[in-house]
Amino acid sequence: MVEIPTKEQKYFIIDFDSTFTKVEAMDELGKISLQGNPKREDILREIHQVTELAMNGDISFSEALQRRVDLLKAHKDHLPELIAVLSGKVSDSFERNRDFLNEFADSILIISSGFREFIVPIVTALGIKPENVYANTFLFDDSGNIIGFDAENPLAKDKGKPELMRKLNLQGDVYVIGDGYTDYEIKEAGLANRFYAFTENVERGKVIANADHITPSLDEFLFVNKLPASLSYPKNRIKVLLLENIHPKAKELFQEQGFTVEMVKGALDEDELAERIRDVSVLGIRSKTQVTKKVLENANKLMCVGAFCIGTNQIDLKACQERGIVAFNAPYSNTRSVVELAIGEMIILMRQIVEKSNKMHRGEWDKSAIGSYEIRGKKLGLVGYGNIGTQLSVVAEALGMKVYYYDLVEKLALGNAQRCKTLHELLEICDVITLHTDGRKENANLIGAKEFERMKDGVIFLNLSRGHIVDVPALVNAVKSGKVAGAAVDVFPYEPKTNNEEFINELRGLPNVLLTPHIGGSTEEAQENIANFVPGKLLDFINKGNTFGSVNFPNIQLPDLNDAHRMIHIHRNVPGILAQINSILANYHINIRGQYLNTREDVGYVITDIDKAYNKEVITELKNIAHTIKFRMLY
Ligand SMILES: NC(=O)c1ccc[n+]([C@@H]2O[C@H](COP(=O)([O-])OP(=O)(O)OC[C@H]3O[C@@H](n4cnc5c(N)ncnc54)[C@H](O)[C@@H]3O)[C@@H](O)[C@H]2O)c1
Repeated sequence: MVEIPTKEQKYFIIDFDSTFTKVEAMDELGKISLQGNPKREDILREIHQVTELAMNGDISFSEALQRRVDLLKAHKDHLPELIAVLSGKVSDSFERNRDFLNEFADSILIISSGFREFIVPIVTALGIKPENVYANTFLFDDSGNIIGFDAENPLAKDKGKPELMRKLNLQGDVYVIGDGYTDYEIKEAGLANRFYAFTENVERGKVIANADHITPSLDEFLFVNKLPASLSYPKNRIKVLLLENIHPKAKELFQEQGFTVEMVKGALDEDELAERIRDVSVLGIRSKTQVTKKVLENANKLMCVGAFCIGTNQIDLKACQERGIVAFNAPYSNTRSVVELAIGEMIILMRQIVEKSNKMHRGEWDKSAIGSYEIRGKKLGLVGYGNIGTQLSVVAEALGMKVYYYDLVEKLALGNAQRCKTLHELLEICDVITLHTDGRKENANLIGAKEFERMKDGVIFLNLSRGHIVDVPALVNAVKSGKVAGAAVDVFPYEPKTNNEEFINELRGLPNVLLTPHIGGSTEEAQENIANFVPGKLLDFINKGNTFGSVNFPNIQLPDLNDAHRMIHIHRNVPGILAQINSILANYHINIRGQYLNTREDVGYVITDIDKAYNKEVITELKNIAHTIKFRMLY
């Protein structure tokens, strides 16, 4: 029985089905007992319907219980299998908060309309006391068949939970956690201080509507009640704001891990974002949202920003760094899309398809092979041998092209590609020239009149990199003079801001020139890749502290956290911080399991893995080290 309470005694009343475990045990029992029964699915459906009837008050609770027992045709020999199934289906947040369940075992009561025979083995394995389990009991016949239940038990009746609570007469504060209306009935009867609707496994509108607080996990319950929890901060309290119509996959990935996600279709202007950012921990944007100093001044909770695109010019990376905010982007997610378009365009241009297709639309049939070539055996010149250049190198070679490349940096040649020592060397020998350099400002007009002059007559020219890299009037002249036999251009020095704005450019109307509206990387696959890649990076940072691939932070790839706590310390890059961290840890006799340090420009990043048992005061001391920007602890 429950011990005589002290004045401050608190009781935690916890439901079993769909709360302590992820499932309804009677459904699971049915799946086992009805195995091989040809009507199994129908019976399981009926069991479910009976449950619903009882929940809606259309039949009495005891009648529903008896009908379900009759339908189940279960035997005591089915119970070990049921217990094995249920033990694998304990709710995740209960699993990870075993310490709370053990430490508060005297105050935790499991009150359920399920059955002791399977509840006790499951809950006691997590530290609950068997004498604190209140549930129904089965009746068996001589052969071990389950034929009924103890009808005298209040839990077998309507309003059974309040009746039991009255009998228990608990003196102290009572908190009820459950997913069902019968759990709320305890509070309704005035027998509990607060009712917490537990929504980790199921959400019931009527239950949520009556709850004092919705708790998506046990972590949230522990957090709001200042009880010891395995997580320093429940994930549902970490707010993710995704702007600019980011692919829904990203939302899904954050939600799967329990984060609260808010989606906004368009971009937000500076003032709107400065307002919305206040309670946001993770921000996802594409190219239109400007993350400025003003926005960041209000971003007190912001841990990281994900650019769901390649470029990061829209983010004030320096200001982020100074505030310990880590930024990521998606550097390769659309690489393949650009490469495929480039290959397609080369073939189309080498075959004069643009002209031929236009003629067909005008009703002209002009069948001729003159001026049409295969790409096989042609010399392809790649200017810029980065992500896209190298990938294109491999694919083009597979199609039989001879690949040459020029890059400012010495890069490993893939396959049979040959490196050119100068840009001019490449321009002079290649039949097809394609630009894949980055958009740094020194690359403005990298290809102008002089460079076109160097190229072979009848060259095919592609720009899918950045508009300002090519001197457009020089390209127009080269096309008109026949120097360039065909060109494909996807990027322009000035690009319309919206689909309603006219595209004005000297390249319009030129023969054998393919123009596309900056869609080299725009495919469904690329969008989905980005939506997988960026959340992966952000989650890896939040959950493990990994900064690998960040565009403004020291890159550290950390091992997984194993039976240790991880301290994450972000500070200004001044001498002596590591020494101070370690001397504080030494003063507290804390054993360091692993330590990782990296610095970049003005920021230093130290990760220290320590033994699980430690004096919590150390955290305050570490936070107080001068020049600390951010500190957090992973459990
Ligand atoms: N059209 C589109 O939709 C689309 C999509 C994705 C990327 N892009 C653009 O494609 C370009 C390449 O992207 P990436 O991911 O391969 O970039 P990357 O940074 O991986 O590679 C760029 C390479 O260019 C080299 N480089 C820079 N300046 C050079 C110069 N003057 N001469 C020779 N080499 C030089 C760099 O050393 C680097 O190896 C970028 O400009 C990017 O913005 C366009």
